[in-house]
Amino acid sequence: MDINKKINRKISVAPMMDCTDRHDRFFLRLISKNVMLYSEMVATKSAIHGDRKKILGFREEEKPVALQVGGSDKKELSEVAKISEDLGYDEINLNLGCPSKKVQKNSFGACLMKEPDLVAECINEMSNSCKIPVTAKTRIGFDNTEEFDYLNMFINKIKDAGSSTIILHARKAILKGLTPKQNLNIPKLNYKMVYEIKKSNPDLEIIINGGITSIHQIKNHLQNCDGVMIGRAIYQNPYFLSEIEKKIFNNTNVLSREDIVKKLLSYLEEEVKNGTKVNHIMRHTVGLYYGQPGSKEWKRYLSDNMMARDSDFQKAKHIMDIAQNNEKANQASI
Ligand SMILES: Cc1cc2nc3c(=O)[nH]c(=O)nc-3n(C[C@H](O)[C@H](O)[C@H](O)COP(=O)(O)O)c2cc1C
Repeated sequence: MDINKKINRKISVAPMMDCTDRHDRFFLRLISKNVMLYSEMVATKSAIHGDRKKILGFREEEKPVALQVGGSDKKELSEVAKISEDLGYDEINLNLGCPSKKVQKNSFGACLMKEPDLVAECINEMSNSCKIPVTAKTRIGFDNTEEFDYLNMFINKIKDAGSSTIILHARKAILKGLTPKQNLNIPKLNYKMVYEIKKSNPDLEIIINGGITSIHQIKNHLQNCDGVMIGRAIYQNPYFLSEIEKKIFNNTNVLSREDIVKKLLSYLEEEVKNGTKVNHIMRHTVGLYYGQPGSKEWKRYLSDNMMARDSDFQKAKHIMDIAQNNEKANQASI
């Protein structure tokens, strides 16, 4: 049985450190019911020895959600796969694409593209220790290696080891000399390579990622791949997800920005009671009015107020006023 098929990965939000934490995922889920969500990368040792509730905790409402893990010790990875299943994650994803120095020093992320046999052993152990899908997110190459044959061999080792869903960031990783940020922009996008991988491996679910910012692009990629993963375009403009709901999932039942703020404020009230800081939630909403009337006021209000230690109801009321005014201005401008 191919259990991977049960998860709809047509559109997913990319794992992003310091961005896609549980608060961001709760917020994004208010906008979109249908996208797949991924956690930030969690190192195996933190998942095993750290404060599990803090590092791995999430709410039922965020589902379907995948835990992304970074590591190269197969025993640790299999332990984390089991932990993630027990906690209720829908998928465990292995990071094979992060080029940061720190990650390389710990022998995980993109440098593992050089070690296909070790990766296969890790995926195999993970698959044997849990029933949820084990997936991988990788690049199309590294340093001077950007060849179809190498990538195809790498992917087939992952497949034979037990993973039938591969997310491909369509640019190679430069392991020395570029910062992680430069590694997201400087190596050229090569979507054709991803399409060729899909063509040669029709039995694999291939998700394409990198530089995708519009519905038009999404539709084009869906002609050649099984799914599209989007990172920065959604973090910058989270309400893009409502357009995705309407135009990709044919779901017109989406919340207005005002209703999203209302629901988020109830969440905030609950969370703050349990010790969460206001800015840990609201910082993810800075782009909610991206490109809309009132965007500046929204951002200004957040930067002036979200460092407050508590979120008293007054403040919540004021923020609702801004949301209502913005909604009115938006209606008037249509
Ligand atoms: C701030 C930031 C943090 C990221 N953290 C991760 C991460 O933890 N794991 C990962 O696999 N990729 C990470 N990435 C890469 C994204 O998942 C994605 O592959 C990349 O941004 C390209 O997609 P995009 O052009 O749609 O943003 C990160 C990217 C950004 C911008």
